[in-house]
Amino acid sequence: MSLPTRVTLAIGQLREQQQTPLCAYVYDLVALEQHVRHMRETLPANCELFYAAKANPEAPILRTLVPLVDGFEAASGGELRWLYEQCPGHSLIFGGPGKLDSELEIAMDYRISAFHVESLTELRNLARIASRRRQRAPVMLRLNLKLAEAPDSRLVMGGKPTPFGLDEDALDEALKLLRDEPWLELQGLHFHVLSHQLDVAAHLRLIRSYCRTFSQLCAEHGLQLPLLNVGGGMGINYQDPQNSFDWTTFCQGLKALIAEEGMGDTRIRFEIGRFISAACGYYLMQVLDIKRSHGQYFAIGRGGTHHFRTPAAQGHNHPFVVIRGQQPAQLQNQPVTLVGQLCTPKDVLASQQTVTALAIDDLLVFTLAGAYAWNISHRDFLMHEPPQMLFLTT
Ligand SMILES: Cc1ncc(COP(=O)(O)O)c(C=O)c1O
Repeated sequence: MSLPTRVTLAIGQLREQQQTPLCAYVYDLVALEQHVRHMRETLPANCELFYAAKANPEAPILRTLVPLVDGFEAASGGELRWLYEQCPGHSLIFGGPGKLDSELEIAMDYRISAFHVESLTELRNLARIASRRRQRAPVMLRLNLKLAEAPDSRLVMGGKPTPFGLDEDALDEALKLLRDEPWLELQGLHFHVLSHQLDVAAHLRLIRSYCRTFSQLCAEHGLQLPLLNVGGGMGINYQDPQNSFDWTTFCQGLKALIAEEGMGDTRIRFEIGRFISAACGYYLMQVLDIKRSHGQYFAIGRGGTHHFRTPAAQGHNHPFVVIRGQQPAQLQNQPVTLVGQLCTPKDVLASQQTVTALAIDDLLVFTLAGAYAWNISHRDFLMHEPPQMLFLTT
């Protein structure tokens, strides 16, 4: 695995400027722009691409995405406020369970494009607020479908008991409420049942089942809904990045699927997180120490899982590249466990990985670190300094 030249050069400069051992996130915004432009251009005409900001809400990432995506998904009042400030005038949609009244009010103030309603209680709360304000509230009902084919992924949020969305048997009551509440405007249905999907054919089957359910429910309930939100969930293969979700093949299949299922007149909205931002991020740790413990080598880097929780959260060995420094190799073709500075044995970024050569002062560069990384980390633990942040625009 090699790093893009732009990233290698930037890391070299960082290293020259730095007085203390390096610890940084580097984001390649040029690569992000190219990637998302390709994603957008490949999608069929009636599809929309939203970014699920929970994957990485750094302001330069959002600003890079503003001209490329149709809007942004927020999953909390905090994210909503942040997106409203960073992406003014852009379409915002708001999902997630347990929304506070105060968050619904903010969303009404911002005149967001859709509320993803996750329960009957939330629908009633929104109805009360919209009616008091005499303001229209656009609603997408999130459904937790019973699926014929059980989703096969490490992170499943539907098709089984979960706190997300309404069961189909709550739909009658939700629709009655919507009919009785003139300020609520039902726009469509929302389905997001999994993340980490690597299998294009399985994902197309899932989307086909969403389309069929959507058409069937519309027919059964006499609804004419313009919008179907099919969520996100396209996966990154951290062990074999070349075999990540194949977007181009997926879009070809999707085009055919839309024609076959007669969905050409429905807007199909994606809200994708990981697959958009993962590849543009790199987390760097300079090696502070190399030691042998009970027969195994450990390399201790500046930083750790309090900055970069992804490997601990996923329970995987995160892929990395070594940039050698000036010191002669202390390890050669030997397995080593890469850890951070935390006093917990859980602070492991990759375990027993064979390195060609490694010495103190070398840099460990963890790739695919742009999604669910810094922002999901327990950054205050042990009060270490935060990493530097570098955003490459050229
Ligand atoms: C409702 C919803 N939409 C979209 C996403 C984004 O998923 P991913 O980052 O896997 O694309 C998530 C992730 O948890 C989600 O819960």
